[in-house]
Formats: sequence, structure tokens, C-alpha cells
Amino acid sequence: MNVLLIGGGGREHALAWKISESSLLTKLYCTPGNPGIFEIAEDAGIGLSGVEIVQFCREKKIGLVVIGPDKEVADGLADTLCNAHIPVFGPSRKASRLEWSKGFAKEFMERHGIPTARYARFKSEQKDEAWRYLAAQDFPVVIKADGLAAGKGVTVATDNDTAFGALDEIFNGKFGDAGAEVVIEDFLKGEEASVFAICDGKKFVTLAPAQDHKRAFDNDEGKNTGGMGSYAPAPLVTPDVLKKVEERIIAPVLKGMVEEGAPFIGCLFVGLMIDGGEPSVVEFNARFGDPETQSVLTVFKGDFLRLLHSAALKNLDAYWIQNPAEGVACTVVLASKGYPDNFERGFPITGLQNALSENIRIFHAGTALQDDKLVTNGGRVLGVTAKAETLEGAILEAYSAVNK
Ligand code: AMP
Ligand code: GLY
Repeated sequence: MNVLLIGGGGREHALAWKISESSLLTKLYCTPGNPGIFEIAEDAGIGLSGVEIVQFCREKKIGLVVIGPDKEVADGLADTLCNAHIPVFGPSRKASRLEWSKGFAKEFMERHGIPTARYARFKSEQKDEAWRYLAAQDFPVVIKADGLAAGKGVTVATDNDTAFGALDEIFNGKFGDAGAEVVIEDFLKGEEASVFAICDGKKFVTLAPAQDHKRAFDNDEGKNTGGMGSYAPAPLVTPDVLKKVEERIIAPVLKGMVEEGAPFIGCLFVGLMIDGGEPSVVEFNARFGDPETQSVLTVFKGDFLRLLHSAALKNLDAYWIQNPAEGVACTVVLASKGYPDNFERGFPITGLQNALSENIRIFHAGTALQDDKLVTNGGRVLGVTAKAETLEGAILEAYSAVNK
């Protein structure tokens, strides 16, 4: 089968790697891709418009499209492909509302009895009500822009200035349309973890639970980012916690989405806060996480392409997972100086060959070729993933490779 992968980050490099191992695969194409991905996939050489993608799929007899990034999911690429009868792993625009509207996600969880923080939701014309509600809350309190804001639309405020400042920024248009509404929610204490569920609309299977490291710099001293590293499986998510996540969260989400006329087909990313073994939802995403996927797929054993294909055909077959968590993986992201704010591009990258070994994989995120030489081309540049028998071992190996 020929497969087209959409995206060009570290997550997609990991997806491409696992897909390329499948005995079902004839040829893997990718757009926009990156130099690492193009070592294992062919550059589709097309843009990201629905028309171009559908035409390409017809020409190349694509049997499955896998969508990586949130933007293409939210733009409804899966709907376009479904209308053209092209199998796709990735949710419809309507189903992905779980990610692109935090307000919708909160109300959905309320309707379906899914554990999450108490909240209130305000439109921009309800600024006064939002102020009054915020003034009556205890600290810390969490303020979120409703829409997609590349992980930057959330403020955990511990004082009045920060809280009202965040509310003002959102209502004053810092996040554009994404800030047309605001969600104010209670602070959840505990430790965070993520669980990815491969869903076919009705059934699901979970992959190895993961944790990502959100802040730049060591010791949580930097700003929040898209993710600076990850590991999987996360010991925090014990089999007992995972069972609760499946029964109290993922199963009711899928049932609720069917009832609301938007069955979820794709990867449901459940962002969790776990306190005393009790999970509640911090957020949903309608796609794989980055850089969690790099670690999750490194410990995955099975035929990943057949798994995704079965889900896309609404007939999920867990047979294709031999073991969701063989060993432990740790990913360390190498970022440009200045990320997540301003940074420069175009610096040469060397030493990759020295770092590679049997237990090390290097995933490209923001890289490019300039005169045939590899250079930096993004905030998050590379993900270095190590696999070992223990988490400590994986962390040590990952940093030892990073140093090369
Ligand atoms: P989100 O984009 O909703 O995942 O929020 C980004 C980050 O903000 C999360 O990963 C948490 O670290 C933090 N956060 C969001 N909501 C809450 C909450 N209700 N309580 C505590 N921390 C939160
Ligand atoms: N690492 C968090 C995300 O992909 O949203």
C-alpha cells in the first residue's frame, strides 16, 4: 500500500519511521516533510491544499493518508479526503473540536460526566462577567484562550496582576480568533501525563503512557514550550490509573462523540493531571503529541501502519500491537537558542553520525538542507531518543548522544 504522511516535524519523522517498518507498505510519501523524513520517505512535492492532496492521492494510488499536525486536522483535511473516498487516519473537523475549542471540550466533558477541572466560559463581549468571575476565584487559577494557540494560550496565574493581565491579553486579541472566547478554570494539582488512544470511532487501544517536559532549560527554569523532551512508558500511569483513564475518560469520549454525531477516528491525545492515582483531563488533542510520539513509538512493538489502517477503516484491530511498551525511551529535544521566542536559523548541524547507535534514534524537527549541508531551520531542531531497559539508563544514553 502507498501511504501519504502530512507534516514535517519530529513527530512526523517518528511516524514515518514506524510506518516504514510495516510489511503492508509499498511506498511512503510525505509533505512538507524534512531532511530526516526524506531519508525514509519520498517528497510528495505538493502543497497542503485539499485539492492538491486529493489529486496526488489519486495519481499515486494512496491507500492511507496519515495527518500529523493540529492545523490540517482542524482545517478539515480528513473531511476533504473522506468526501473523495480516500482512507484517512485523522479526525473530521467536527470531531477535532475537542482540541480546537477548549470551551467545547469542557462542556462536552460536563455533558458526559468526564472528570476535569471546574470552569466557566466567556465570550469577548462578556468581559465584565469574566472579570467578576475571575475576581471571585482563589489562586492559582488557570486562564485559557479558547482556540489553537500553539500551546501558548494558557496562563497558570498565582496573583491578580498575572490573572487579569492574561485575561486582558486574550480579549485584546493576542491570540487572534483563538481568543474570541476565554475559559477560566480551577487549578488541578498533581502530576501530568499523556495517553494516546488509537480510535476507530467506537473502539480504541492505548499506546504507552508518556510524560513530556514543557519548559525550556534545566530545572523548569525556562518558558513553556511545545515540549522539550519526553519519556515513555511513564511510571506514574500505573495499570490501575490507565484502566481508570480508559473507563472514565476515553470510552465515554468515544461514546459521547458518536451520540453527538462526530465519531472520533484518529489519535485522541488525553492530557491528564493525576493526583493520588485519580486522573482528570487537562486537555484533549486530536493528534499525536510532539515530542511524546518519538518516545511512545520507540517502545511500540507491532505493525503500526496496519494498526492505523484498521482504525481508518473503522475496524480497529489490536492484534497489530504486540507490545505497547517494550523497554523505556527518553527523548531530549535540541532547540535553537532563544526558543520559544525569537531565534536564528541556518546554523550547520554536525555530529549526527557520531551520536547514532543501536539504541539511539535522531528525529529531525526544524532542519533543512542548504547546499547539501544540514542546517537548523526551526525552534525545535532535533529530538534525540534513547531506548534502554530502565528510565535512568535511557536518560543517560540520550544525553550522552546529545553531547556528541
Ligand atoms: P493545555 O494547553 O490546556 O494543556 O495547558 C497547558 C499547560 O497548562 C498544561 O500542560 C498544564 O501544565 C497547565 N494547565 C492547564 N490547565 C490546568 C489546570 N486546570 N490545572 C493545572 N495546570 C493546568
Ligand atoms: N507535547 C505536547 C503536544 O504535542 O501538544
